[in-house]
Amino acid sequence: MQFIATALLALTALVGQATAMPARLVRRQDVVSVHGTIDAPAEAAAIAPGATFDFEFDSVNYCESGYEPIVVYLFANEPDVSDMNTDGSFPESAYLYEFGEWLIPNFGLSPQQSPPPPPSNLTMPDFSQASTNPTTYSDATFYITVVETYLDCPGDVAKEFGVTTSSIVYNATSS
Ligand SMILES: *[C@@H]1O[C@H](CO)[C@@H](O)[C@H](O)[C@H]1NC(C)=O
Ligand SMILES: *[C@@H]1O[C@H](CO)[C@@H](O)[C@H](O)[C@H]1NC(C)=O
Repeated sequence: MQFIATALLALTALVGQATAMPARLVRRQDVVSVHGTIDAPAEAAAIAPGATFDFEFDSVNYCESGYEPIVVYLFANEPDVSDMNTDGSFPESAYLYEFGEWLIPNFGLSPQQSPPPPPSNLTMPDFSQASTNPTTYSDATFYITVVETYLDCPGDVAKEFGVTTSSIVYNATSS
C-alpha cells in the first residue's frame, strides 16, 4: 500500500511537469498496478551479508505471454517507478544490487531457455567486501523488488511492467 501511495505521488509530480517532460509521462503509464507476490523471503526477514536465502516469486503473467521476463533488484529505499527507464529497467544509481534477470515459462513451456527460470535461492551480497565503495550497514531495511515485463498486451502498448516489493533486514542485530 505504501508503495502504491509512492507511485501515485510520483505520477502526480509527473503530471505537474507534463509540458516539460512528455516522454516521462508516456513511459509512466506502462507501469500497471497488477503485479505478482514475493512468497520468499518473508516480509522483514533477516538476511545476513553473504547469506543464501530462499527465493520464490508468484507471477501474475498479466498479459498471458508464453514467457515472462523478470529482473530482481535490491534497493536501499522503496523503489520509485518514476526512476524507471523506458524499457522497464532501473538506472544503476537507483539500486544497490541486481540479483539477475530470468524468464518464467508459462503454460507448461520448456524451461530450457536463456535466461533460465528464476532460481530457488539468491545470495545476498556482502557490501563491506565490495571492490568499489565498500560499505557496512547495521540492521538496515532494504527492499527486494521484482520487475515483471508483461509481453503481448492488448492494445498498442508493447510492454507493460508490474513492480513487486518486499522488505528485508540486512545485517540484523537480533535474530
Ligand atoms: C540454490 O538454487 C540452485 C538453483 O535453483 C540449486 O541448484 C541449489 O542447490 C540451491 N542451493 C541451496 C543452498 O539451496
Ligand atoms: C554488521 O553490523 C555490525 C554492527 O552491528 C558491524 O560491526 C559490522 O561491520 C556489520 N557488517 C557488515 C557486513 O556490514
